[in-house]
Amino acid sequence: MEKILDMITAKMQRAFQDAGYDASFGRVTVSNRPDLCEYQCNGALAAAKQYHCAPIQIARAVAEKLDAGDYSLVDAVMPGFINLKLSDRFLQNYLEEMRTAENLGVEKIGAGKTIVVDYGGPNVAKPLHIGHLRSAIIGESLKRIYRFFGYNAIGDIHMGDWGLQMGLIIAELHERQPGLCYFDPDYTGQYPEEPPFTLSELEEIYPAASAKKKEDENFAAQAHTATFELQQGRRGYHALWKHIMNLSVADMTRIYDTLDVHFESWLGESDADPYIPAMVQSFKDQGLAVESEGALVIPVAEEGDKKEVPPCILVKSDGSSIYATTDLATMVQRMQDFHPDKILYLTDKRQALHFEQVFRAARKGGIIPEGVELEHLGFGTMNGRDGKPFKTREGGVMRLERLIGEMTEFVHAKVVENQIVEESEVEDTTAKIALAALKYGDLSNQPTKDYVFDMERFAAFEGNTGPYILYTIVRIKSILSRYGAWENLPIRSPANVYAKDLMLALTKFGTAVEGALKGSAPNLICAYIYELAGCVNKFYHETPILKEADETVKAGHIALIGLAKNVLETSISLLGFSAPEKM
Ligand code: ARG
Repeated sequence: MEKILDMITAKMQRAFQDAGYDASFGRVTVSNRPDLCEYQCNGALAAAKQYHCAPIQIARAVAEKLDAGDYSLVDAVMPGFINLKLSDRFLQNYLEEMRTAENLGVEKIGAGKTIVVDYGGPNVAKPLHIGHLRSAIIGESLKRIYRFFGYNAIGDIHMGDWGLQMGLIIAELHERQPGLCYFDPDYTGQYPEEPPFTLSELEEIYPAASAKKKEDENFAAQAHTATFELQQGRRGYHALWKHIMNLSVADMTRIYDTLDVHFESWLGESDADPYIPAMVQSFKDQGLAVESEGALVIPVAEEGDKKEVPPCILVKSDGSSIYATTDLATMVQRMQDFHPDKILYLTDKRQALHFEQVFRAARKGGIIPEGVELEHLGFGTMNGRDGKPFKTREGGVMRLERLIGEMTEFVHAKVVENQIVEESEVEDTTAKIALAALKYGDLSNQPTKDYVFDMERFAAFEGNTGPYILYTIVRIKSILSRYGAWENLPIRSPANVYAKDLMLALTKFGTAVEGALKGSAPNLICAYIYELAGCVNKFYHETPILKEADETVKAGHIALIGLAKNVLETSISLLGFSAPEKM
């Protein structure tokens, strides 16, 4: 189904043509004078230059040619604007088509295309912390938006499971329990099924080792050696690594589940390892890699760079691979296994240079062919109310689990206090509201901007918040359930000005989701549903819906809010949360 603006533009272009002017002048935009009209076309002004006549003359001639049935207002005004208001009939037809169309009329422009969304990036053995929140929330939303447009969207968690943190744990464990069979190079038996540590021990071992590394050179060297030997395939270390992975992955899954974030692919940096030797060789063979202070690097600076772009390090001087190496090798793996048309990465924007280097190297080396798009969406920081990066009260990095827990507790108190639902539904309702608060609080900001995490504001039932949107949906659901079967009722002509505003807002759904897709901007969906929810509530307050005596009119009201419910629910599913039954 055509987007509303495209449809009106096409009609306007035909009118220009019918009036004897070039169709290309017929571009229509949303009005910047909503007090005067809903849409406008300024094409007559430009056309006047080409046709050497007064713009108003052209505007009038074009206005004559428009189909009067489509508009309640067509006004050619000085110096040559064409102001438009859509007719009731037009709105009714458009929304009825949207109501009955698949996907709410949004075309699946991504059908047949594949995108890999790389949006996890948690490091194994370290608990998820709030640094992982934005990536999870924004990435999950974008993945769902791509899917809505028909893309085969694969979310890949891309765990940090191959770096120094693994060597640190192994080295620390060696110091603590040197007698374990994993450290005996002559051991040839089976390794135990049970790990030699629990998850909480593991979570204590890593920071301890990390701190020790900074003070103890000897220990640091051991950790480096252990990392190297693990990567070379030392049996006992690999078995330890597997234990660490099993514990960590189970824990990550649990926490991502509470965020309703799900990955299709659970690969990590380690899975890229087998692709490294051939990839490095290929860079060498193509003469793209050069030696620099013992390391192998790929120069990627380009003419016209405004900032210095240093070479991309492929192999470190000690022969080990680093972040860029695994990212490049992962691209080889993804091209081979998924044949994507696009790879989208989400990380903190401080990694922008890394991705610039890696993308350039990948293009140079032919890993990523020209037709395949690469995008890095670097997001801003989540700050506390003091405007500084969000910290715990004790000043540490907050665990994601704790953040979710605090939000849940906060919402729980409200749910209980307001006696919103039956005892048995408290938990589920609380979880849904808390998730909406958390996700909408994040997603309503432009991804690249920093934002302030404000629990009270995010969880408020009024204002531009997730709970407010849920509340609106719940309100509609409650009316619909009191009405009865509503799914097949057709859209009718607007019954009043509030209905018309709501209808106008509904027609903009396609534009909003497409904007979110093209601009990697779920915030556009948030802004859209906030406006839409406002129209729903205004209509609700000004219109007796169930009390309407005329059954036909009532059915029209119901059909309209039913469509609004579908649009709102679809939108929040694209943002990654859902509405409870009661609130
Ligand atoms: N593990 C990385 C980190 O903690 C993030 C990984 C992001 N994805 C990627 N392909 N580099 O910074």
